[in-house]
Amino acid sequence: MRIIQVLLGSRSYAIKVGGGLLPRLGAECAQLKLGQRCAVITDANVGKHFAKVALQSLAASGFQPILITIPAGEKSKRLAVVESCFNQLAAHRLERKSFIVALGGGVVGDLAGFVAAAYLRGIPFVQVPTSLLAQVDSSVGGKTGVNLKAGKNLVGAFYQPQLVLCDLDVLKTLPKREYVSGLAEVIKYGVIYDAVLFAQLERNLAKLLQRDVATLRNVIARCCEIKAEVVGQDETEGGLRAILNFGHTIGHAIENSSGYGKYLHGEAISVGQVAAAKLSQRILGLASGDVARIEKLFVQTGLPVKVKLNATLSKKLLAAMLLDKKVSGGEVKFVLAKKIGRVEFGCKVAAEAIEQVLDDCSR
Ligand code: GLY
Repeated sequence: MRIIQVLLGSRSYAIKVGGGLLPRLGAECAQLKLGQRCAVITDANVGKHFAKVALQSLAASGFQPILITIPAGEKSKRLAVVESCFNQLAAHRLERKSFIVALGGGVVGDLAGFVAAAYLRGIPFVQVPTSLLAQVDSSVGGKTGVNLKAGKNLVGAFYQPQLVLCDLDVLKTLPKREYVSGLAEVIKYGVIYDAVLFAQLERNLAKLLQRDVATLRNVIARCCEIKAEVVGQDETEGGLRAILNFGHTIGHAIENSSGYGKYLHGEAISVGQVAAAKLSQRILGLASGDVARIEKLFVQTGLPVKVKLNATLSKKLLAAMLLDKKVSGGEVKFVLAKKIGRVEFGCKVAAEAIEQVLDDCSR
C-alpha cells in the first residue's frame, strides 16, 4: 500500500492506495475515532457491487451504518438530492460525531462531501472513490458541491475528508468507457506538472489500458502526490490550484451545453485539453511537437479529441464558458502549457482565439 499525506494543518489527512482496502473500511474508520453512527452514501450501480462489503466492514468494527442510495449519474448532482440525503440523515438521528462514507465515483463524492459539509454545519466524512477519475482527482482536495441548471459545480464548499481510501480492486468492475474517461485526468497530471509521468504514460499505455495493478498503483499514487502537493499549497484555489483545471474551461462548457451526461467528464476534458494545447501553441508558444504528443496520447487512450459543432453550439459553448467559475471581470481565463510538465494559469484569452480553436476541434 502507498500512503500520501495531504498536509493542511488541522485538516490534514492520508490517501491510501492499494489492493484490498474496501474490506478494511471499518478498521480504517476506527483509527479516526469517529462516532458510532454513520451513513454510507452510494449510487445504485456502485451499491450493487460494494455496499454490502462496506456495511459489513463498518458493522464489524462496531459502527452502526445506514445506507443511502442515490440514482447513478450526473443528474443526481443537484440540490433536491442533497435535501433528500439531509432528511434521511435526520430521520436516522445522525449527530455531530456521526460521519459519512462517500462510496462511489465523482458524483457521489462531490454530493456526499457537500452533504457532510452542510449537515449540522459539518460532520466528518471519508472518501472511498470507486472510479479511476475519483481516485486520482475528485476525492482528493475537498472540493464538494452540486450543479445548477446554469452550470457545473456552481454551489458547493471546500470541505476536506478525514481519509481517502483508493482500493485498486474496485477498478476491475468499472465499465471500459468510464475507466478510459478517468485516464483523461491521469494524462492531465503529466501535462500540467510532470513530464516524466507523461513519458511513462506514453510508454506504459498498454499496461494501463489492461488495468495492470502494479502500473495502476504507481500511476494513481503519483497523481495523488501531485494533487496533494498542489492542494497543500493552495487549498481554496487562490492561485496555483487553478492548474488542475487544465482543459476544464472548454470541457465544462461541452458538458454544460450538450446536457449533463452526454459526454463523460473525462471525455469532455479530453477535448478541452487538446483545445487548450492548441491555444497554448498560439499564445504561449507550446512546441508543435508537444501539441502532437498530447493529442496522440489522448487518441491512443481511446478518448475523443473533437466534438461535433455548428455555429449555434459554438455560441452556446462560449456563453457557457462565460458562466464558468474561472471567469473574472467578464474575461475567460485559461490554464495554458509552456511545455509538457509546465503550465501557467490566469491566461486571458480573447473570444476570437477561442472561436478559432473550437473550429479546430470541430469534426
Ligand atoms: N478537480 C480540480 C480540483 O480539485 O481543484
